[in-house]
Parts: sequence; C-alpha cells; structure tokens
Amino acid sequence: MTQKLLFVCLGNICRSPAAEGVFLHLIEEQGLSDHFVVDSAGTGSWHVGNKADPRMRAAAERRGIHLPSRARQIELDDFSRFDLVLTMDSDNLRNVQSLAKEAGNNATATIRPMLSYARSTELSDVPDPYYGGEQGFEHVLDLLEDACSGLIEEIKPQLKR
Ligand code: 4NP
Repeated sequence: MTQKLLFVCLGNICRSPAAEGVFLHLIEEQGLSDHFVVDSAGTGSWHVGNKADPRMRAAAERRGIHLPSRARQIELDDFSRFDLVLTMDSDNLRNVQSLAKEAGNNATATIRPMLSYARSTELSDVPDPYYGGEQGFEHVLDLLEDACSGLIEEIKPQLKR
C-alpha cells in the first residue's frame, strides 16, 4: 500500500520543504521509501519555483538532511491526489480547510496539523522561522523530526495491509 502525503505551509520555502526532507530522510533510513509518495506546497505563490530558503537548507544539511523541493502553490486537485495533507499552523490549517471546501466532493484527503503527531512538545503550531534568526530554523527541525517520527509510527501498521 502506498501513502501519499502532502506537507503544506505558507511560502513552501521553510517549514513544509523541511518537513518533506525530514520525512524522506526518515523513511529512507527505515527502508520504507517504496511505500510513500511525498510532496510539499504553499498556500501562497510568492516563491513558486524557488528552492527552500538557504538558511533552512543549511540547517537541514548540518543534520545530514537534503531538501530537494522547489516551491509550488497548493492546487484543488491536491485534495484528491493525496491521502493526507499536513498543515504547519492554525492559520495554515484554516486556509487549507477552506480550499478543501472549494474542491468539493473530490476532496478526499484527510487534513491534519503536523504537530498532532509530535510526542515531545505541547506546541500545536510550527513557528514561521522566515523573519527570525538561526535558532528558529533549528527549532523547526526539532519539531519536524519529532512529528515525522510520530507520523511514520502511526502509518506503519497500515502499510502491511
Ligand atoms: P514558510 O515560511 O511558510 O515556512 O515557507 C514563509 C516564507 C516566506 C513567507 C512567509 C512564510 N513570505 O511571506 O514570503
């Protein structure tokens, strides 16, 4: 069984490409890559076509994690193409839910906050690191490593079906 996951944030240059890269890294380590299709997108269009923010890529590379994505904007078809859409904060969740409504009956994807899968934090939002300092990018990666591990553990039993 293949699970199709879409990580979503606002600009698709910091949090969601990092979530995508962390997830890809973990499933590769666990030999689960064949079971997943993974992508990321933003609700905004400002950065379409761009690589992830250099600060985000550098922080990820320091952990041995490559961020392969180029930014794209979420499309209504994504809600029928993907099984699970993971959002980064409450504004993002609201925007994505309203797009799913627009997509109508074809919107079969489940929409869940990314940090609902985290086990070591009480936070429900992944803070936007774009206007902050270096430490913000490290914090984002800590949260995403936690949440991606939890997400994999939750999905693993379904892969055997
Ligand atoms: P992201 O961060 O949503 O984690 O990719 C942002 C990047 C850029 C902007 C906002 C958020 N921006 O306004 O350009």
